[in-house]
Amino acid sequence: MKITILGAAGGIGQALSLLLKLQLPKNSELSLYDVSPVTPGIALDLSHIPTSVLVNGFSGNSAESALKGANIVLISAGFARKPGMNRSDLLKLNANIICNLIEQIATTSPKALIAIITNPINTTVAIAAEVLKKAKVYNKNKLFGITTLDVIRANTFVSLLTDKNPEELNVTVIGGHSGVTILPLLSQIKGDTLLNQENINYLTKLIQTAGTKVLEAKSGGGSATLSMAHAATRFCLSLVRALNGENHIIECAYVEGNGEYARFFSQPLLFGKNGITEYLSIGTLSTFEQYALDNMLDQLKIDIKIGEEFVK
Ligand SMILES: NC(=O)c1ccc[n+]([C@@H]2O[C@H](COP(=O)([O-])OP(=O)(O)OC[C@H]3O[C@@H](n4cnc5c(N)ncnc54)[C@H](O)[C@@H]3O)[C@@H](O)[C@H]2O)c1
Repeated sequence: MKITILGAAGGIGQALSLLLKLQLPKNSELSLYDVSPVTPGIALDLSHIPTSVLVNGFSGNSAESALKGANIVLISAGFARKPGMNRSDLLKLNANIICNLIEQIATTSPKALIAIITNPINTTVAIAAEVLKKAKVYNKNKLFGITTLDVIRANTFVSLLTDKNPEELNVTVIGGHSGVTILPLLSQIKGDTLLNQENINYLTKLIQTAGTKVLEAKSGGGSATLSMAHAATRFCLSLVRALNGENHIIECAYVEGNGEYARFFSQPLLFGKNGITEYLSIGTLSTFEQYALDNMLDQLKIDIKIGEEFVK
């Protein structure tokens, strides 16, 4: 199994590379690429950790050597938000980077599963889909925007308020990956969580604004990197397990589903040997959640349209 990380020298990329070097199955291959010349050195550094995961690092203008033969490509290349910027401000910086990297994937490893971390996810995934379509290699079962950070934040924040074990929680988060488009389905948490509507309002807002809080707390020094690296590791390992034939692997991600709510939408997915094998239902929503869903869709559709039009 070969995993390629594009943007591997960044805050997320380096932590993600370390976690995958430690946690990928034996004899996997980890291939690191970044425009930064430090990347081969990061690979050498990681290669001294005694696991049987082989690590290679590449820099320069072409990602081709890193992409050849990849089964999964994780993309964290691009710029992160600075305080005062929203995820849309990032688009001007990151849209061309995503276009260029996806074009390279389309020619070098067109069958790979592609999981995008680069923000704004609501739009970068739409850009990637259009670029792949243009190259005639688009398979919607193989393209994901990673929203696992919203899930793990929800698990953590719910546990703090309820004394539930965060490792036993797995909150479904639907919609998109910015502001009000992030919708945790807290009413679906099993068992007695003692969550009243006041707590649900509070937690929903907390989960929606958590990224901005990290930005501010880092005082201009970056956005969420370590928790994101953990989230991407969890997501990648789920894909790896499914590719290796394990059943019942379910994760939420932002994908092109059946278009019931928007062309791209984050929802629970069943993974298999070829990516998504089933787009699972979002289940029953509370009145509060249904209202929040209805009210986010205009924003989500605008974000998607920007991505679609960027490529046309
Ligand atoms: N999906 C999420 O939940 C989530 C969470 C946090 C951050 N992010 C996003 O992840 C991205 C990366 O964040 P970070 O904190 O690691 O940023 P960073 O600036 O630390 O790292 C980005 C890396 O991308 C590299 N890069 C730039 N252009 C490239 C190209 N064309 N090809 C290859 N590499 C290139 C840079 O050299 C740098 O090493 C940002 O867009 C950020 O907004 C997403």
